[in-house]
Amino acid sequence: MEITLKDVFFSYNAGTPLENEVLRGLNMTLESNKITAVVGRTGSGKSTFVQHLNGLLYPTRGSIKVGDAWIMNNSKKKTVLFDKVGIVFQMPEHQLFEDTVIKDVSFGPKQLGWRNELIRSKALEALRLVGLDESFADRSPFELSGGEKRRAAIAGVLVMEPSVLILDEPTAGLDPAGKQSLMELLLSWREEQQRTLVIVTHDMDLLAEYAEDVIVFESGKVNVRTDPLTLFTKYRDRIEALGLKLPMALTLVEHLNARLRSPMVINSVKREAILAQVADHFLVASGKGGS
Ligand SMILES: Nc1ncnc2c1ncn2[C@@H]1O[C@H](COP(=O)(O)OP(=O)(O)O)[C@@H](O)[C@H]1O
Ligand SMILES: [Mg+2]
Repeated sequence: MEITLKDVFFSYNAGTPLENEVLRGLNMTLESNKITAVVGRTGSGKSTFVQHLNGLLYPTRGSIKVGDAWIMNNSKKKTVLFDKVGIVFQMPEHQLFEDTVIKDVSFGPKQLGWRNELIRSKALEALRLVGLDESFADRSPFELSGGEKRRAAIAGVLVMEPSVLILDEPTAGLDPAGKQSLMELLLSWREEQQRTLVIVTHDMDLLAEYAEDVIVFESGKVNVRTDPLTLFTKYRDRIEALGLKLPMALTLVEHLNARLRSPMVINSVKREAILAQVADHFLVASGKGGS
């Protein structure tokens, strides 16, 4: 499902002395079938932005079109799209509160008034999707590991079968294996047609590996929107200023290039591709072959 923003402004405490303008004129389209990364300094408005995409927050000015629905301030009836646009908040495991995993996963569908039998089968299906088999259903969420808790929380969003999934810092606090398996889960989720995945992240290695489209926020505006390769090459000089870092493998290339007579020109930001290019470069240079 496609989402289009037109001149979106948002202030917390609008019209009061505490007014704080956080979004300042956003114009963009989030495409279906794309993995979009949203990055930027803490406080640049990323979390506020994503909460606009399902009607949790409403723009103070401007409009948002989500599929065929409109989210705008002057519409009489508030549009809420919690089922079509699922948001997984930062540290979602902190929001688990029921005494069993399946009750937690069933919370959203219950609010939407689904039939009980349907809720149970969909909840079990969502748990399977996140890699938690039926044996987890009746366990207390509080006895799961950190990674399992996060998966359970994500199942509580996936159960509503959203077309757009937004995750705010999904891998924060996970170990490398947990990160990778979560990313694999998300990639397989979005295999289906017309699914949109938006990931807010500070993890530039993750961004380099998975993002197809990058939106860099700065003070509630879009500073740059591009693909990861262009971000780390053409906009290299802005990286630190925007509160970003180079991915690890690119840092290696920069350090090497600083000492090489003919610098390597990278054509991918994915880790394996860069490491292969570096290996090739030195194997050729030392006469040991390579391609
Ligand atoms: N509920 C709120 N009430 C008032 N101000 C808020 C609220 N939530 C966030 N803010 C302010 O909005 C700005 C952007 O915050 P946020 O969207 O959380 O940024 P990010 O996710 O990029 O760190 C910050 O200055 C923050 O203090
Ligand atoms: Mg945030």
